[in-house]
Amino acid sequence: MRLAGKVALVTGAASGMGAATARLFAREGAKVVIADVMEHEGEQVANAIGPAALFQRLDVTDEANWADVVAATVRHFGHLTILVNNAGVSGSAEQDLYSTDAWHRIMGINATGVFLGLKYGVKAIADSGGGSIVNLSSIAGIIGSEGIHMAYNASKAAVRLMTKSVAVQHAKDGIRCNSVHPGIMPAMRTSGRTAEPEVRAKRMNVIPMRRPGEVDEVAYAILFLASDESSYITGSEIHVDGGAIAI
Ligand SMILES: NC(=O)c1ccc[n+]([C@@H]2O[C@H](COP(=O)([O-])OP(=O)(O)OC[C@H]3O[C@@H](n4cnc5c(N)ncnc54)[C@H](O)[C@@H]3O)[C@@H](O)[C@H]2O)c1
Repeated sequence: MRLAGKVALVTGAASGMGAATARLFAREGAKVVIADVMEHEGEQVANAIGPAALFQRLDVTDEANWADVVAATVRHFGHLTILVNNAGVSGSAEQDLYSTDAWHRIMGINATGVFLGLKYGVKAIADSGGGSIVNLSSIAGIIGSEGIHMAYNASKAAVRLMTKSVAVQHAKDGIRCNSVHPGIMPAMRTSGRTAEPEVRAKRMNVIPMRRPGEVDEVAYAILFLASDESSYITGSEIHVDGGAIAI
């Protein structure tokens, strides 16, 4: 088992890639905290995994909530060794691509939410003697996108660079930190235009592999970075995008 003895906290684990990651981690021997604002769906993911999983309601924008959930993780499972900052919202449902409200909301969840996770996660992982942090960015954190509020690109670029900051600042604490950059995946719950079939079909033409990714294809990249198999990899990034930004 690739994660035997590890304790992981996965944000946004009630849905999509977060849920796939939590299930894969549990299959590989980890204890997993399913952290999400969606209580019903999060409980369902945790119940399907069984005693190796614990659901915790977490709004990643709420600092006090982060402190409580990290403390509850350590109380329940003994320590924290892996953090996956995966929770996020899309920028493709906005009508006004210059909405200031949307800027604050998207940056709040996708960028500040990750910063707060790092603030509480780094300390808990250092206290347990070290571990691995994986942050979900996107190819939209590296290149610009049509029809998406630029807060999405900016927030995912912030995630990419916060990752490298933690890698540089906390290697001494035994903490590795890397980012994963999915390309075109099953639509997010909050997707707008990018969920429309004709928009998706058009975007396939610029992907060398000519197909969208599957959630498990991202989960396996996260698993590798979370496990000790990647013990000399930090501050790095894996693009899981069918070659989209290799062009
Ligand atoms: N789906 C894609 O095409 C795609 C591509 C690249 C990157 N990503 C990124 O991957 C990650 C996972 O996306 P997904 O496709 O699984 O989307 P999803 O919508 O299925 O899942 C996102 C999860 O985050 C949770 N969430 C949202 N706001 C939250 C908050 N304030 N606090 C806690 N949880 C919150 C949601 O409840 C949901 O469970 C996101 O960070 C997303 O930006 C997605």
